[in-house]
Amino acid sequence: MTQTASTLPSNSRAAIAEALNQSVAETAVATMLAQNFHWNVTGMAFGPLHDLFQKMYEDHFVAQDDLAERIKSLDAHAEGTLAGMLKRSKVKEHEGKATPEEMLTSLVTAQETLAATLADSGALAAEHGDTLTEDLCIERGQIHEKFAWMLRSHLR
Ligand SMILES: [Fe+2]
Repeated sequence: MTQTASTLPSNSRAAIAEALNQSVAETAVATMLAQNFHWNVTGMAFGPLHDLFQKMYEDHFVAQDDLAERIKSLDAHAEGTLAGMLKRSKVKEHEGKATPEEMLTSLVTAQETLAATLADSGALAAEHGDTLTEDLCIERGQIHEKFAWMLRSHLR
């Protein structure tokens, strides 16, 4: 049976919020990763990569807020510290310099990781009957898979 924020039992809300906090954390780390590369990319593809990385971090910045506010709609705590996000995120930061190819490879991995995390979060929400959270996760997962394709296409 489908549930909404007001009808979900508290254990379901807690489990879904935990999954969403994972998604927020990884989206936040991916935001910084894309912005890092937006600043530091060099080479003949500077223009298009600088622009693509900006498109990504702007998308991710809005998405962090949408995911975190879904947690609040479920009446749970949205983790809002960078330290906490870094700890739980499977998307990792990139230390130091990188070539454009290394940047693209790192971002493909980040996008694929995020797509998997969001697919898992959506499936968990569905198990609890929370179709509205499931919908948000599906939408976000699709966007990350689209970015993964765009990034990957530079490397072929
Ligand atoms: Fe900029």
